[in-house]
Amino acid sequence: MRVAVISDIHANAEAFTAVLSDTAETGAEKMTVLGDIVGYGADPEACTQTVMVMGGDEAPTDAAPIELFDTVGPFRDALICAVMGNHDMGAFGEEILTCMRYEAVKAVLWQRTVLSAETMSFLVARPLEVRYGDALFVHASPYRPETFDYILSRHEAVNAMDHVTGRLFFVGHTHDPVVYYETGTINPEWGERINLEPDVRYVVNAGSVGQPRDRDPRACYVIWDMDADTLEFRRVEYDVEGAAQKIYDAGLPQVLGDRLFAGI
Ligand SMILES: [Fe+2]
Repeated sequence: MRVAVISDIHANAEAFTAVLSDTAETGAEKMTVLGDIVGYGADPEACTQTVMVMGGDEAPTDAAPIELFDTVGPFRDALICAVMGNHDMGAFGEEILTCMRYEAVKAVLWQRTVLSAETMSFLVARPLEVRYGDALFVHASPYRPETFDYILSRHEAVNAMDHVTGRLFFVGHTHDPVVYYETGTINPEWGERINLEPDVRYVVNAGSVGQPRDRDPRACYVIWDMDADTLEFRRVEYDVEGAAQKIYDAGLPQVLGDRLFAGI
């Protein structure tokens, strides 16, 4: 079975729509969302509703994201899980805001004014981690996921893996696609297959759908083929101008739109 693992949508409906279209073409049957559905972008309600629909929920009636719902297609009711990201927690929690930059807090506080009761309840109910076979899905780090520590090196990845059981640890949070294992690091080539070894542990960072930070503005995600035991990272062009313009129109910090063009 092929599982699309996506992370850090960050309220970017244009990027999310493009990724959903691309995943359908890969033959993926299941979807996993590694957190940060909201934050930074201008479409938190639409993006959260879409994840809810993928999880089999009925969409709230208000502000139905028609174009997003159209692309959900084969992924309706196909969600394995959507775990909690720090920005999802920021939609309702106070303490987490002290760990965020000014522009991130501005976006979070604005989103609180546009999220419906239904989507807010969905975000509040997100689990911090979900096990699936020998894989663990988490937003930031498999070790102490509630602290949202950044895994920025192989050393940090191995240290985190040493504290938990499992073989494959899918993470997001840094917005930088990479695979770490005990003796090496893989910087993925887009569309190329990565063969996994059965006795090796891996931290797999899926990159970011809605706010890539590896100087490539295209949306990023990864396909995990459970039967073949392979990964395939993919990049998808989307309407960056449209997403940025919505951020400007919403009165959010300009840098949140500007950075989308550079992928930073
Ligand atoms: Fe994020």
